[in-house]
Amino acid sequence: MPYVVLSKAFRTDTKTMIGKGHVTLSKEEHWSRFSSDFEERTNYVVGKQIVEEIRRTVSALRLSGRVLELGCGDGLYTQDISETAETVVATDLSEDMVTAARQRLKDMPHVHVEQQDAVALSYPDATFDAVVMVNLLHVIPDREKAVTESRRVLKPGGGFVVISYTNAGMGLLAKIGMIYRFFRAFGKPPKAMRSLTVAETRAIIETGSVMVKDARLIGTGCKAVVVQGTAC
Ligand SMILES: C[S@@+](CC[C@H](N)C(=O)[O-])C[C@H]1O[C@@H](n2cnc3c(N)ncnc32)[C@H](O)[C@@H]1O
Repeated sequence: MPYVVLSKAFRTDTKTMIGKGHVTLSKEEHWSRFSSDFEERTNYVVGKQIVEEIRRTVSALRLSGRVLELGCGDGLYTQDISETAETVVATDLSEDMVTAARQRLKDMPHVHVEQQDAVALSYPDATFDAVVMVNLLHVIPDREKAVTESRRVLKPGGGFVVISYTNAGMGLLAKIGMIYRFFRAFGKPPKAMRSLTVAETRAIIETGSVMVKDARLIGTGCKAVVVQGTAC
């Protein structure tokens, strides 16, 4: 196993703030450390099968118009969103992830990568036709705020999609294996990170004036929740 746990670098609670124009962003301290090989580490933890299934799920959404992606990481799923969207604004709190995503997506002129905090977006109300977050909702502390911010920047009737890894529906041994691999690849998880069931994800989304149209579990080994809704 090639990964070394970088335990001395764990600092998930920080008061450090970075100025960015009129917005002040908190510094992202966990995922940033893995920006250079995030995809490889993720494949080790959850397996390529679920990663590919999420990619197929994102492609099948056929999102159109102006699409905002929150917590884009190194831009893996941005590629799939970009297949049908007119423009994609792919965002992440981590400067290092933004740099990695820019590098991956540099040949896509209709994709713009920006640093943004999902709970304090700098965009005006009703800017986007769709908002997508893949593997963000279950890792951040203020999940409801991320949903209300997404709803704020969505046009009425716009699409809202949340996809997140979960251990719901997995057997005990499979869960233990995944947790073990997570610690080896990514170290101690951020304090707020927790597995959400389909029902919990749905309930969080419904707090933000989003009407849920579809909520399900995907994956045969490791799993992910997929919840799709419309801004009321
Ligand atoms: C588990 S990774 C998922 C990355 C990518 N979506 C994927 O699935 O490959 C979570 C990402 O969310 C970002 N993130 C954490 N807190 C955030 C916040 N408040 N706003 C925006 N992005 C955030 C991290 O920097 C990291 O890139």
